[in-house]
Amino acid sequence: MSKQASSTPTLEAIRYRRGTLELLDQLRLPHEFVYDTVQTSEAAWEAIRSMKVRGAPAIAIAAVLSLAAEAEQKRESFESLEQAYQFLCDRLDYLQTSRPTAVNLFEATGRLKAYVTAEFRVATAGKKGARDLLRHYIVEAEKMLAADIKGNRAIGQFGAQTLLSLSSKEHLQVLTHCNTGSLATAGYGTALGVVRALHESGQLKHCFATETRPYNQGARLTAFELVFERIPGTLITDSMASFLMATKGIDAVVVGADRIVANGDTANKIGTYQLAIAAKYHGIPFLVAAPVSSIDLTLEEGAQIHIEERPPDELTNVSGIRIAALGIGVWNPSFDITPAALISGIVTEFGTLVDKKPDGTFDVKKFLQSAKADQ
Ligand code: MRU
Repeated sequence: MSKQASSTPTLEAIRYRRGTLELLDQLRLPHEFVYDTVQTSEAAWEAIRSMKVRGAPAIAIAAVLSLAAEAEQKRESFESLEQAYQFLCDRLDYLQTSRPTAVNLFEATGRLKAYVTAEFRVATAGKKGARDLLRHYIVEAEKMLAADIKGNRAIGQFGAQTLLSLSSKEHLQVLTHCNTGSLATAGYGTALGVVRALHESGQLKHCFATETRPYNQGARLTAFELVFERIPGTLITDSMASFLMATKGIDAVVVGADRIVANGDTANKIGTYQLAIAAKYHGIPFLVAAPVSSIDLTLEEGAQIHIEERPPDELTNVSGIRIAALGIGVWNPSFDITPAALISGIVTEFGTLVDKKPDGTFDVKKFLQSAKADQ
């Protein structure tokens, strides 16, 4: 993996042109703006695991595009169609092992595996070769970048409309958590996309961002995006959120998602659950904003979601310096589960789901079916 410094910062977590993938090293933000060239699925796996690239949509896109870059490099190396097919399937399976909670990675790799399997059958019947199959994979993977940005803009519009419809005010103060912006996606962002859309239409009064311990995605990344985009923003520690709600006139909390299951329970960055409880207590709308690729209808409820636990040093150390007493035990779950009952609405690129069942859960399957039928 080679490194190069960029002199013209833009907020693109992922840069891609055929055969070459570059990932912004988010561990070095906000101090350094450096892209790593990632030419193999192994390098992408490592970048995802170490959180150089993070955020559910960005993880998925980085994974499939790393394999597109690798496939382009290796396009002359396969002796048969079968060998190329096996290579693509093996690599897609391997990429799934990088991080467990964000379903977007499994959705994207699973969809591409089904796609190459179908293309493999067509190629076998039509006597086409390895290069054709690799090209099909590359073209399909490349579609994800543009599709994600388009979807995020729609999420921004729907989310802004929903928030304004829930408030009597024309200018809103919003609290967000973790980083769900350009750095967590192909561009624009999901929950931060909603903030961005409000700002673009002149209806954002202020955005408060939690620092998001232990990895500080809020302090390092969301704060960076807000400053970069000149969006009025204020950083708070996670422990200030309830007092902020009690004293500063917060109109809404908007967060992203790593996995939304069939009843609307949502896994997102650790700390989301306590924000939802505090929002409920203060009567503040709590919105989850995510693409439909974050929805997992194979799971009925949040308790079934596999929550990633990260290494202890991510909690005991800050920027490589130990801040916790030596010898202390550590529990470091990277995500928590917010029950649907605490969620006011789920914003997607197809619209916002606000209707609830009598028990306070959502029928996400029905929403998806009717949203897709309307397209
Ligand atoms: O551990 P991270 O930084 O990958 O966690 C990110 C989050 O929890 C985000 O809120 C979520 O992935 C949505 S990003 C649009």
